[in-house]
Amino acid sequence: MIVQDQRKIVTVADPAELAKTAADRLMARIAANDGRVAICLTGGSSPKQLYALLATDAYNKRIPFDRVHWFIGDERFVPPGDSRNNMAMARGIFLDRFAPACNIHPIPTGAANPDESAEHYARELNAFYGLERLDPARPLFDVVLMGVGPDGHTASIFPDYPALAETERWVVGVPHAHVAPLVPRVTLTLPALASCREMLFEVAGSDKRAILTRVLDGENLPAARATSIGETIWLVDAAALPEAFRGR
Ligand code: 6PG
Repeated sequence: MIVQDQRKIVTVADPAELAKTAADRLMARIAANDGRVAICLTGGSSPKQLYALLATDAYNKRIPFDRVHWFIGDERFVPPGDSRNNMAMARGIFLDRFAPACNIHPIPTGAANPDESAEHYARELNAFYGLERLDPARPLFDVVLMGVGPDGHTASIFPDYPALAETERWVVGVPHAHVAPLVPRVTLTLPALASCREMLFEVAGSDKRAILTRVLDGENLPAARATSIGETIWLVDAAALPEAFRGR
């Protein structure tokens, strides 16, 4: 493990080991909390292998589904049945088979527009948390899963977009995406995502090496600014690992 600023970089061989390491970290966080657990999932392709692993007997039998709640860090503003919908992807791979419907908390994309959808989700998060202000002594989530896009975005917080500067609201609408799919988005903000015991990035493949190099060099990119008030872990496979970190 390489410790860099507040981040810990955990290197693994390949996407299979990455998914297993992420699943084991998730299980450890669930095991560490004997009350109500809150997991914030992510979209994109990076977490698919992890979600598939959570659907296997080796994992799903050990998850206390009755007391684990599943949220999503960002959503494409498309109907729940659309193949681009992030929560639909997680539901299809594992949630719908194991989690009680009342423990699955999708971003409601049936609202009139992304801002209204963001307000609804913020209210749902406020109600779940029991407060409208985040208390650093009581993280909102046990785990927040994250990915990084080719432009350095994370969740749907794009470089130089207003969402990046948000310090008060927990959820905001994003009228235009910076990368495909070019549909409006709804995203949790950096302070809401930071309110967790562990923020866990999954980064795999040589396509990610260039952007990861920029993020770890400390460029002012959303993914570089996303850190947890607890632990911030970057799980990186060999193909994505920047040159400067090889052999460390
Ligand atoms: C989304 C995601 C987004 C994603 C990155 C990485 O809605 O697209 O939540 O932030 O994590 O774009 O995407 P990949 O995993 O597909 O590379």
